[in-house]
Amino acid sequence: MATGTTFAHRHILGMEQLSREDIVHILATADSFKEISTRSIKKVPTLRGHTIINLFFEPSTRTRLSFEVAAKRMSADTFNISPSTSSTTKGETLADTARNISAMHPDIIIIRHSCSGAPLFLTRYVQAAVINAGDGAHEHPSQGLLDLMTVKEHRATLSGLKIAIVGDIAHSRVARSDIIGFTRMGSEVYIYGPATLIPKGINQLGATLCASLEDAVRDADVVMTLRIQRERQNDPLLPSLREYSRQFGISRHILSLARPDALVMHPGPVNRGVELPPEVADGPQSVILDQVTNGVAVRMALLYLVMGNS
Ligand code: CP
Repeated sequence: MATGTTFAHRHILGMEQLSREDIVHILATADSFKEISTRSIKKVPTLRGHTIINLFFEPSTRTRLSFEVAAKRMSADTFNISPSTSSTTKGETLADTARNISAMHPDIIIIRHSCSGAPLFLTRYVQAAVINAGDGAHEHPSQGLLDLMTVKEHRATLSGLKIAIVGDIAHSRVARSDIIGFTRMGSEVYIYGPATLIPKGINQLGATLCASLEDAVRDADVVMTLRIQRERQNDPLLPSLREYSRQFGISRHILSLARPDALVMHPGPVNRGVELPPEVADGPQSVILDQVTNGVAVRMALLYLVMGNS
């Protein structure tokens, strides 16, 4: 499509598997689809007759809804399964759930799961294309792609930028996908957060660990904050949220250290008053809702490309 190259991936399991050319191709395709969402009739026949199943084992507002919106805007038939109302509550395994879903011949399965590797596991049991909508602390590739798209829209390039990522890096699949994606596109990623929430070996992903919040944010083109994921912490890893906010929150003063036109980003959901005060989350530099808008376009592109279109 937009780049005139082919897209070779049957499944989207992580940014790790996507080359620079793949990312350029996906973003160009998403760019060409974005306009559809601004039409009065927001529907094209591109995926008519295709069956898409949303299999979300963890809560989601943005990802699940935007995959469904994307599929419906392309005329696909979509179905949602949530674990609380599925036979997993009766002890059915993920493999058996997958085999049974596959027997109904879906074309695409979108999965969110608390276990890293669950989407890869699913590919062994289904004929359908599998898209990872977030697996444990591993990856969230569609979020990484929509973050790249949002920055590219505002900066025109992804090369040579300073990206600061602040917060709970250890539990964040978004951080992993963003670090891989931004570094692959030529940006430099600087991270900062509580020592207990920085995973060992983070430098191997290509990010630089900073000694202070000021070092991370100074002259940044993008300040990305992450939510504290208390649901993934068996033991408390923070003294208190108030303390966290004081040491790691992006106040207006901290933001003033970044470039004057720096973008404030957050994958959501935002803990208002913890990682971002309202005046920054809703301020003129915030592109948080642009990220959500671009999520639909990126997910339309992924659905289109995994179906062999290019
Ligand atoms: N960014 C993100 O994954 O949000 P949801 O958990 O609401 O899908």
